[in-house]
Amino acid sequence: MKLLVTGGAGFIGSNFVRYILKKYPSYRIVNLDKLTYAGNRGNISDLNANPRHEFIRGDIADRTTVDEAMAKVDAAVNFAAETHVDRSIASATAFIKTNISGTHTLLESARKHRLSRFVHISTDEVYGSIPRGSFTEKSGLNPSSPYSSSKAGADLIARSYFITHKVPVIITRSSNNFGPFQYPEKVIPLFVINALEDKPLPLYGNGLNVRDWLYVLDNCEAIDKVLHKGKDGEIYNIGGSTHLSNVELTKKILEMLGKSSKLIKKVDDRPAHDFRYAVNCTKIANDLGWRPRAIFDEALAATITWYEINKPWWKKIINNNYREYYRKQYGRA
Ligand code: NAD
Ligand code: DAU
Repeated sequence: MKLLVTGGAGFIGSNFVRYILKKYPSYRIVNLDKLTYAGNRGNISDLNANPRHEFIRGDIADRTTVDEAMAKVDAAVNFAAETHVDRSIASATAFIKTNISGTHTLLESARKHRLSRFVHISTDEVYGSIPRGSFTEKSGLNPSSPYSSSKAGADLIARSYFITHKVPVIITRSSNNFGPFQYPEKVIPLFVINALEDKPLPLYGNGLNVRDWLYVLDNCEAIDKVLHKGKDGEIYNIGGSTHLSNVELTKKILEMLGKSSKLIKKVDDRPAHDFRYAVNCTKIANDLGWRPRAIFDEALAATITWYEINKPWWKKIINNNYREYYRKQYGRA
C-alpha cells in the first residue's frame, strides 16, 4: 500500500509513520507536513535514509501540493491540524484554515484521485464535556473551544463527502494521547519537563478536570485497524480507559520523579475549560477487536524516561520558544 500521512512530523503522526513502516515492510509512506511550530523533522530523523518514506514540506490547504501528494498514493490518514486548545483561544485563524479548509482540500483531492480509503483523525473533544458516563459514536456534537469546534466542522465536512460523493471516509475520535515526541505545551510533557527543571507546574483552576489518557502506540494500533478493517462512513471512538483528574495526574508525575508537590502552582483556569471527557469504545472493541494494551503507570513511567533521556530534543524546542515557556512557568497572565 502507498499511504499519504499528513501531519506525520507531529506527535501522533510521527509515531504512526514509524509504527506502519515497521509493521508493513512493503508499505510506502508519503508524509506531508507544513512543519508549523509543532512539526519537527527531528521527530522522524531516523527515517531520513528510509527509501519507503518520502517527506514533503507543504500545507494541506494548498491544492496543488495536495494533488501532487495524493497522485502518489492509494489511501490517506489525515493527522495534520492545529491542536492546542489554549492557542485556539488566543487566536482561532490558523485552526479554521488548517482544520476546516485543509481537511476540505484533502477531501476534494481524495475524491479526484479516487482513494480507496481516507481516515480522518478527529478527537473526543467534538462531543464536549460530560459530567458522568461516556459518549458513543451516536452522541451529538457539542464542542466548546475554537479548536474543538474546528475539528467538529471538519468531521461534518468529512462525513458529507462520504454521503454525497462516496469518498471512503472513516473518522476516529480519540481521547488525550501521551508518549514520546509530544510537543511540550501539552500537559504531560510540560509538567514532566518543568518538574525535571524544578520549575512550577501551572495547574489550571481547581485541578479537578478529568481526562482519559491513551498511550500513543495504542492509538496507532487502533488507527491501523481502522485503516485496514474499518467500514466506510463509520466513526470509531478510541479511549484509554484511564480517567484521572489533573491533580491526580500531576501528583503521579511528581511522585515518579521524586519531586515535591510544592512545585504545583494553581493558576487561572482556561476559559470554557471542559470538565470531563469520556468515550465509550465498545464499537471498536466489538467490530475491530481493539482494546488499549498499555498499563497507564508503566506507559507514563516510560514516557517520563523518554523525556529524561531526550533532553536535547525538548531543550531545542524550549530555546526556540523562550517567551512562551516563560509565560507558562509564571501562570497564564
Ligand atoms: P501535533 O500538534 O503534535 O502535530 C500536528 C502536525 O500537523 C505538525 O507536524 C504540524 O506541522 C502539522 N500541520 C499543522 N498544520 C498543517 C498544515 N496546514 N498542513 C500540513 N501540516 C500541518 O498534533 P498531534 O497531537 O499529533 O495530533 C494529531 C491529530 O490527532 C490532530 O488532528 C489532533 O486533532 C488529533 N488528536 C490529538 C490528540 C492528542 O491528545 N494529541 C487526541 C485526539 C485527537
Ligand atoms: O481530548 C483530546 C484532546 O486532548 C486533543 O484533541 C487535543 O489536541 C489535545 O491538546 C488534548 O486537549 P486538552 O486540552 O485536554 O490537553 P492539554 O494537554 O492542553 O490539557 C490537559 C488538561 O490539563 C486540561 O484539563 C487542561 C490542563 N492543563 C493543561 C496545561 C497545558 C493544566 O492544568 N495546565 C497546563 O499548563
